[in-house]
Amino acid sequence: MKTRHLISTTALTFALAGVASANDLRDYARDIFEPLPSTIPALADNPVTPEKIDLGKALFFDPRMSASGVFSCNSCHNLATGGDDNMPTSIGHGWQKGPRNSPTVLNAVFNEAQFWDGRAADLAEQAKGPVQAGVEMANTPENVVATLNSMPQYVEWFKASFPAEGDPVSFDNFAKAIEAYEATLITPAPFDAWLNGDDNALNAEQVAGMELFIDKGCASCHNGVNLGGNGYYPFGLIEKPGADILPEGDKGRFAVTETADDEYVFRASPLRNIDQTAPYFHSGLVWDLKVAVQIMGESQLGEDLNDAEADQIVAFLGSLTGTLPQVVYPILPVETAMTPRPTGEVK
Ligand code: HEC
Ligand code: HEC
Repeated sequence: MKTRHLISTTALTFALAGVASANDLRDYARDIFEPLPSTIPALADNPVTPEKIDLGKALFFDPRMSASGVFSCNSCHNLATGGDDNMPTSIGHGWQKGPRNSPTVLNAVFNEAQFWDGRAADLAEQAKGPVQAGVEMANTPENVVATLNSMPQYVEWFKASFPAEGDPVSFDNFAKAIEAYEATLITPAPFDAWLNGDDNALNAEQVAGMELFIDKGCASCHNGVNLGGNGYYPFGLIEKPGADILPEGDKGRFAVTETADDEYVFRASPLRNIDQTAPYFHSGLVWDLKVAVQIMGESQLGEDLNDAEADQIVAFLGSLTGTLPQVVYPILPVETAMTPRPTGEVK
C-alpha cells in the first residue's frame, strides 16, 4: 500500500447534479465502493478449511493464550459488541492501558494492512502481535506452543487443520488458524444490498448521506469494500485537530517508516459497523459519531458540515452496520497437569 499524501480532495468530488436515475447513482457508487463478497475470501498461503476455522475460533476465545490467563482476543474484540471493546484505549495485561483504541475485527480481512498505522501486512502477521505485546496478552510464542501442546484436544485440532505438516502445533499455525476464523467475520449490510441492486435497502436520508459522503470528498479516502483500510493520510490533512483528539505523543506511521512526511499519518479507518464501535479515532477520545464526522469534515476537508449534513452522513454510515454470522460460543479444550499456569503480577 502506498502512502498517498497529496491527494486532491476535489478530485473525487463529483457533480451529482447530472446523475439521473437510481441506477446511474448505483453505477457511480459502484465505481467508488465495493459490496462484500458473498463467500469467505481466499487467504494468501493459508487455505481456509472448516477444521481451521473451528480451531481459530477456539483460539480467538481462549484466555489461556495470554500469560495471565485473563485476556483472549475476544476481550478487546468482543464479537457481541461490534468486534471491539468500546473503551477509549484497551485494558490488557496487569490492568495496563494500551496506547490506542481497539479497531473492530469484523471485515478486517478486507483491510489492505492492519493496525491504525498499517504496520502488519495481514491478519496472520497481525495475530502474533497482541499475544506478545506487554500491554495486551504479554505471552511468548514458546509459552503459547507449550500451552497448546499440553492439551490433547488442541493437538488433535492442529493435526486436522494442518494435515500435511509433521509438527503442526506452531506459533505460525496458531496465527494462520486465527486468520482463517477472522476471514469468516464478515457482516453484509443494507448498503451491500443497495449496491447489489435493492433500491429499498436504503432510505432517502441514507441515500442523501451517501451522496454527501461522495460529494464532500469523504470517499476520496474512505472507499473500496471497507470504505477505508486501504490508504494512509495525515490526520489533520487540512487542519490538525487539538491534543484533546490527536494526542501529540502518537505520531502514527512515523514510527513505522521514520519519514518526517509520515508524522501523524494514519490509515483511513474502515467504516463498516462504525455506529457500533464508539469511541472514535485512534485515541478513542470522541464518543459521538456525528461529532467524529464533523471533525473529519474540518480536519480532512476544511468543510464545516452543518447539523443536517452531518445527520445525513451518520444515517448513511448506519447503513454499513451488517449482520454477523451466528457465533456459537466454543467449548475449549480442558487443561492438564502440563498446562503452564497463569503468570504475571496482577496489580
Ligand atoms: C488488550 C486488548 C487486545 C487484545 C487482547 C487483542 N487486541 Fe487486537 N487490537 C487491540 C488494539 C488496541 C489494536 C490497535 C493497535 C494499533 O493499531 O496499534 C488491535 C488491532 C487488532 C487488529 C487490526 C484491526 C485493524 O483494523 O487494523 C486485529 C485484526 C486484531 N487486533 C486482532 C486480534 C487478535 C486475533 C487477538 C488475539 C490473538 C487480539 N487482537 C488481541 C487490542 C487488543
Ligand atoms: C484525507 C483523507 C480523509 C478524508 C477526506 C476523510 N477521512 Fe475519515 N479518516 C481518515 C483517517 C486517516 C482516519 C483515522 C484517524 C485517526 O488516526 O484516528 C479517519 C477516521 C474516520 C472516522 C473514525 C473511525 C474510527 O474507527 O474511529 C470516521 C467516522 C471517519 N473518518 C469519517 C469520515 C467522514 C464522514 C468524512 C467526510 C466528511 C471523512 N472521514 C473524510 C482519513 C480521511
